[in-house]
Amino acid sequence: MNLKDLYINYFIERGHKQIPSAPVVPENDPSVLFNTAGMQPLIPYLMGQPHPYGTRLCDYQKCIRTNDLEEVGDSFHHTFFEMLGNWSLGDYFKDEMIPWSFEFLTKELNIPVERLAVTVYGGSDLIPFDDVSYNKWLSLGIPKERIARTVDDNFWIAGETGPCGTDTEMFYWRSNDPIPKEFDPEDSRWVEIWNDVFMEFEKKADGTVIELPKKNVDTGMGVERTTAILEGVNDNYLSSVWKDIIDIIVRISGKEYEGNERSMRIIADHLRTSVFILADPAGIKPKNTDQGYILRRLIRRAIRHAKTLEIDINSNWEEEIANAIMNQYSKYYNEINENRNIVIEELKNEKTRFGKTLEKGLRMFEKVTKNSKKIDGETAFHLFDTFGFPLELTLELAEEQNIEVDVEGYKQKFMEHQEKSRTASEGKFKGGLAGNSEIETKYHTATHLLNAALKIVVGPDVHQKGSNITDERMRFDFSCDHKLTDEEKKQAEDLVNKWIEEGIDVTVEEMDKQEAINSGAECMFIEKYPDRVTVYSIGNISKELCGGPHVKNTKELGHFHIKKEESSSAGVRRIKAILD
Ligand code: ALA
Repeated sequence: MNLKDLYINYFIERGHKQIPSAPVVPENDPSVLFNTAGMQPLIPYLMGQPHPYGTRLCDYQKCIRTNDLEEVGDSFHHTFFEMLGNWSLGDYFKDEMIPWSFEFLTKELNIPVERLAVTVYGGSDLIPFDDVSYNKWLSLGIPKERIARTVDDNFWIAGETGPCGTDTEMFYWRSNDPIPKEFDPEDSRWVEIWNDVFMEFEKKADGTVIELPKKNVDTGMGVERTTAILEGVNDNYLSSVWKDIIDIIVRISGKEYEGNERSMRIIADHLRTSVFILADPAGIKPKNTDQGYILRRLIRRAIRHAKTLEIDINSNWEEEIANAIMNQYSKYYNEINENRNIVIEELKNEKTRFGKTLEKGLRMFEKVTKNSKKIDGETAFHLFDTFGFPLELTLELAEEQNIEVDVEGYKQKFMEHQEKSRTASEGKFKGGLAGNSEIETKYHTATHLLNAALKIVVGPDVHQKGSNITDERMRFDFSCDHKLTDEEKKQAEDLVNKWIEEGIDVTVEEMDKQEAINSGAECMFIEKYPDRVTVYSIGNISKELCGGPHVKNTKELGHFHIKKEESSSAGVRRIKAILD
């Protein structure tokens, strides 16, 4: 039996219901690009809403983490991975979970106890040392030298706010070196394989932590890593998860894996993630913003590495690889079967688009760097704008040859261009920088204004929980513990209209993520954003991390009108509004 089936069966036998994997693109939540953990689709239930399947759940969840996309190419980074997880929603807690973890690892997966070590929460001013977990592990036979107490690494939260708690992490000795008696979590030969989070708290945006109505358990185990460990390979890409895909790349390229690992891993990883994004019900296509931009970068980087391996780009290499990926996953995910043709077609379209300019772009890159060890901002922007090279691709090419890129200069050019496109067009963004219609752009800006208005009218605890925009209306979900009164609705509406009438400028700046947060910019799941972010400000009324696009001045919005206010889920209200 494979790991996924073993895990699910184990927890089903212990009273859990298997729930289906949620889409990789979260529904109704523009602040999160992708699901990054098994718990993410379960947040409302961890916060107290009853789950239709009960209080014991398990699944394998498709996850995408792109914050270290550039690291892919080594033996263990992946942008897509499957996370096994089980949850207790106010049901069992540490006393049951820790023995199950121990039993699953040592009995089901047959991992020798000598190769295991764990961390537990060491204690801080706010939260005491987790002696319950510590003693539990000890009683099960993990020696005290193999139980490390840490603080920073043993508190888990998805991003900045939401359900959270202390955790205990399990590590495996993945090396042929003798196993040291004392466990050092910093030693990379110890690899984390499973995490049990004890979710007792909710972190609010103002930094305060309150107790959740119920004590939950949230666990996560990465399929790729654990499979590699069980199969005794030190390179994840040599495990059964990747074998068929790598074999095909080896055959198509006519090159050995050894010596070409980096490019092969990048192609395998990036095409697999692209397959899952394209097959997702959200209908994401390659473009220059949001998830579509991640998708574009993945496909284009895979194409560039196929070229490095001297694969004939015009052959149907990407189709063969994508088919192998889809064959492997179709029995677990319906959408793969349903959207096979879309996946193949979109990969081909993007390849055709990039294929036309890749060669010329590479030639330009070579020409510029022949006599200079530096690429200026204008050239980097030209590579992006004319030849479709995402900045990250230029950076990677440059790094391989020890060439410096003027990233600040690139950003300057990018912004100048964005500004030009914005003023040159009647609401339509040109230059492929965004694909939103004029009215959608207005709704984007109205969403920021409504968010700001609700914070004033209802209170600073209001935070965006989701949003959805069509040509006809905007929908805005926000945290709030009560139905809005007519008075509150009117006040919020009036405030938004007042700001519209005042004709306030909307400005955009690019900055480091941390800098943006420090400056008080609003956002939900900070870890979902890249290191450099765009921040939109509306005078001093609103400041949010956002991909845009937005109008230039609030007076363009017309008149704002709240049509409906209703419940969305526990603690979350929903407003539907229009501009007329
Ligand atoms: N949510 C926890 C994690 O992702 C289990 O590690």
